[in-house]
Amino acid sequence: IPTLDDLNFTNSKVMVRVDINSPVDVKNGKLLDDSRIRAHVDTIRELVNKGNSVVLISHQGRPGDNDFTDLSEHSRLLQKYLDLEVEFVDDVMGPYARERIKNMKSGSVILLDNIRFVSEELIEASPLQHSRSFLVKRLSPLFQGYVNDAFATSHRSQASLVGFPLVLRSSAGRVMEREVSALAKVFNEEDSPKIFIMGGGKVLDSLRIIENLVKRRLADRILTGGLIAELFAVAKGLDLGKENLQVLEKVGVLGLVTRARKLLLSGAPVEIPVDFKVEREGKVYEEPANKVNGVIKDIGSATVGIYSSFIRDAKTIVMRGPMGIIEDERFRESSKILLRNSMESPGYLIIGGGHMISLLGGDVNVSSSKMHVSTGGGALLLFLAGEKLPALEALDISAREVLK
Ligand code: 3PG
Repeated sequence: IPTLDDLNFTNSKVMVRVDINSPVDVKNGKLLDDSRIRAHVDTIRELVNKGNSVVLISHQGRPGDNDFTDLSEHSRLLQKYLDLEVEFVDDVMGPYARERIKNMKSGSVILLDNIRFVSEELIEASPLQHSRSFLVKRLSPLFQGYVNDAFATSHRSQASLVGFPLVLRSSAGRVMEREVSALAKVFNEEDSPKIFIMGGGKVLDSLRIIENLVKRRLADRILTGGLIAELFAVAKGLDLGKENLQVLEKVGVLGLVTRARKLLLSGAPVEIPVDFKVEREGKVYEEPANKVNGVIKDIGSATVGIYSSFIRDAKTIVMRGPMGIIEDERFRESSKILLRNSMESPGYLIIGGGHMISLLGGDVNVSSSKMHVSTGGGALLLFLAGEKLPALEALDISAREVLK
């Protein structure tokens, strides 16, 4: 993929797609983790220092979810970490946004509002189709270049990711470049046993990833937590009780049971918890997986012990998504222990997903030759599963067709 060294934008107006989608504290709208915001500082500073004016676009959450917010809080934090003025424009492609972009001074920075306020961004379509979207048609004439630094969203074929590269000179930003090279290195090494620790709430994504990992025989063991563990437990025939089935039904997980069962029957190396932490009438209990009474909120300590022994023997560990509801202090422990054990294990550790990174606390910038902290969740695992990521492909098309 083309990098900033190849295109060397100077004194231009450049659109930069970042991914500052962050976990949100629903009680007060504050961001629970700002590591994705900090990650993009290098790319933005480099462009500004070369006299470019930079217009940042990002998404946050999805319509209907409670982390679907505007980007005002993000702009405040960006300004703090960049130590530069960042103008927040609460519009995406309307007359106000276009006017502010037209009148930018060189070296200035604008953050447009949540790109998912625009309906076109919500469909996944081909780069060609998206290059004809209103979003691309209205905004692209205002720019001389496009930089994609949003590795964490590169698995989505959405307009802001795949449409612009077909009409503008385009390159990867520094975050994108670092991710792709660090992860590719791991992919090429002789590094089995490989353990994938899968948790979090994005069950359909996790299932797709597991299907891929199994098909390509990339994982020696897949340790599950969070909702994906409950899905596999149900697929295995465990009775998780009415309350938990209701939760799974509400988030649309029960429709996936047949797919999960098929995987198990095909001999997929998927491990499910032997016990859970549940909440019942405001109190926390640990219960065996076949005798659950209460709402499941985390994996239990016997499971943590078993998972930790697999972790100790692994040469590559990929951790994606927490094991429990880590927003609640009482259900944070198991994810923390697995993270600590993974960091202490001799294997190469790849950590992905905003929630996992928030568990690292202040240690986000841990740079070590045996660890890569990825900004990606789903994108990271699809990349490691060998899937083609649409946003990277669009940059390749751009290099072949727009730059020639
Ligand atoms: C992520 O957090 O994985 C990315 O920001 C993509 O978000 P999405 O799953 O809502 O598309």
